[in-house]
Amino acid sequence: MTQFDTKGLLPPHPPVMDGAILMTSRRIGSWEILVKRRPLSSADLANRYDAVSGSWERTAGRLQLEAAYQEPLLTSQVATVLTQAGPQARVLDCGVGSGNLSIALDSILTDPVTFHGIDTSAEMLAQARSKMHAAGLRAHCKQADVLSLPYDDQSFDVVMAAHVLEHLPDPRRALREMVRVLNPGGMVFVCVTRPSLFGALIQLKWRTWAVTEKQGVAWLRESQLAEVACQPVRLGSCAGVASTAFWARRPT
Ligand SMILES: C[S@@+](CC[C@H](N)C(=O)[O-])C[C@H]1O[C@@H](n2cnc3c(N)ncnc32)[C@H](O)[C@@H]1O
Repeated sequence: MTQFDTKGLLPPHPPVMDGAILMTSRRIGSWEILVKRRPLSSADLANRYDAVSGSWERTAGRLQLEAAYQEPLLTSQVATVLTQAGPQARVLDCGVGSGNLSIALDSILTDPVTFHGIDTSAEMLAQARSKMHAAGLRAHCKQADVLSLPYDDQSFDVVMAAHVLEHLPDPRRALREMVRVLNPGGMVFVCVTRPSLFGALIQLKWRTWAVTEKQGVAWLRESQLAEVACQPVRLGSCAGVASTAFWARRPT
């Protein structure tokens, strides 16, 4: 695990650029060459996820997502945050997909909490509902965009998102919205694709960011979060260490 203090220097990171994702940049002498790509619109992305929803569970199974998420969730000590919140503890899973991150979190908790899941894809949400219900979670799922969460300020103890922020032209907007609904002392937990061969394939197919540790840390700090930390995440199949988990607390 890498821990970052909140007063350290902001690491350099490419800016988010006029709604486009910076795929690569090269400096040659006085030349700076940037390759940007327009992300899929929210509606196109929802349609694409609707279309792959039938095979998503096979993909998630091959990548062993649930098991992969458990390790950083344990390191983050998110369970302690939820225990301190008591029996009314509430967790929001943004871009819940078929519920893998919530189910992974539930598996490391001793006491039950209430899960809320949002997603722009109706078909993915249908999967989340049935899978989270089958796993015995107390879960409520709603169609919504992470950029405009239909919840009050400071209404969750943990707000999380796995493999969602890298889809967005400006992940910092989503983080600001996630922090808005987070209680003081609560935890944000996100997992995103990192630069790797697997990350490049995902980028090509889905027009996503491949987020470096420095970038992710900078984004969390810019969102006014403290105690920022991160850890590489090993996925199953041949994906290898293809993602990074980041977490941080909202100052009290
Ligand atoms: C790669 S899947 C990850 C699903 C799940 N979090 C997991 O780890 O198994 C990304 C999910 O994010 C959803 N998504 C993409 N953009 C979104 C947005 N702006 N707001 C909410 N959900 C979004 C997609 O519909 C999809 O279900």
